[in-house]
Amino acid sequence: LDNGLLRTPPMGWLAWERFRCNTNCDEDPKNCISERLFMEMADRLAQDGWRDLGYIYLNIDDCWIGGRDANGRLVPDPKRFPHGIAFLADYAHSLGLKLGIYEDIGNLTCMGYPGTTLDKVVQDAWTFAEWKVDMLKLDACFSTAKERATGYPKMAAALNVTGRPIAFSCSWPAYEGGLPPNVNYTRLAEICNLWRNYDDVQDSWGSVLSILDWFAEHQDVLQPVAGPGHWNDPDMLIIGNFGLSLDQARAQMALWTMLAAPLFMSTDLRTISAQNMDILQNPLMIKINQDPLGIQGRRIRKEKFYIEVFMRPLSNEASALVFFSRRTDMPYHYRCSLSMLNFNRSLTYEAEDVYSGDVITGLREETDFTVIINPSGVVMWYLYPIKNLEMSQ
Ligand code: DGJ
Repeated sequence: LDNGLLRTPPMGWLAWERFRCNTNCDEDPKNCISERLFMEMADRLAQDGWRDLGYIYLNIDDCWIGGRDANGRLVPDPKRFPHGIAFLADYAHSLGLKLGIYEDIGNLTCMGYPGTTLDKVVQDAWTFAEWKVDMLKLDACFSTAKERATGYPKMAAALNVTGRPIAFSCSWPAYEGGLPPNVNYTRLAEICNLWRNYDDVQDSWGSVLSILDWFAEHQDVLQPVAGPGHWNDPDMLIIGNFGLSLDQARAQMALWTMLAAPLFMSTDLRTISAQNMDILQNPLMIKINQDPLGIQGRRIRKEKFYIEVFMRPLSNEASALVFFSRRTDMPYHYRCSLSMLNFNRSLTYEAEDVYSGDVITGLREETDFTVIINPSGVVMWYLYPIKNLEMSQ
């Protein structure tokens, strides 16, 4: 969507995967969906280095709605959001953050809260703008294909009319099977800043793998449609939760970065470990994810011995490479060369290992190298040509 927003993939925090629809504030006041949870996450984003690295969105998901007032206007649950959404937006803004909100184009949200039916689209867009919300995720449970086809463009137009810059996240394709001819990605890119293509991520490696598989399998369709202002969204990062090993957490971060994916963490930032923080706060990783060209990467090799290589072109003739192991035995010694990865310009390259910081220099296309990849792990390189020294000899 050409509204000037999200020229690089959005980064921030989203409540859903970790905190779901926990509305039991009496028994679980620290973890229920409430203004307290969002304020505490806002504090962490601002104070623990996240915001300064680009994680600026604080996004509410399902289960915030209390109902509609006599004028049909949305109101948050009065017990859990006693100060209202405008207050939360102000709080986020005072910390240099942006607030995202959630609605659904059907009769009800997925968890059964009032939806934005077609007759409510314009009113709700104004409500969000008046609250000074910065992003809207519009889900599509309990909607018909016809309602989606009308509702998403209608909401995009309605947000635009408010004059407030509100990034627009559409779940539309995920409800149409994610692929042409049911999904018209050219059109989608004109209506939405990002879109969920596929299944919800769950707190498991199996879920991460199934999403990755789907994106890699359909990369010929998906890769070309991503770019500044319009991104594929393979769903949240689950790093810091219960389902991933350290290597798997590193793998999700690296692979999502190769997909030019939004980096929405969904984890408890109050208790996250230093190791997981290091993964999510890796400056070179973030630089690659946020590369200004915004070109989505592709899987360029799929070996029958369960090693895969992903490549993402970056600005300044650089590229990112991810060597990924699906193996379940032991660290694998993968012998490779740049020519095997289709680099065939006679340049000399240097690679920085994104996780270890090691630098491998003097790589020419024919140079053989070996990367050691842990089971369900990655080795990730930031690769760039070094100015041709031979020229001056
Ligand atoms: C389905 C979406 O895909 C999820 O990300 C989440 O928003 C839930 N609905 C909320 O009910």
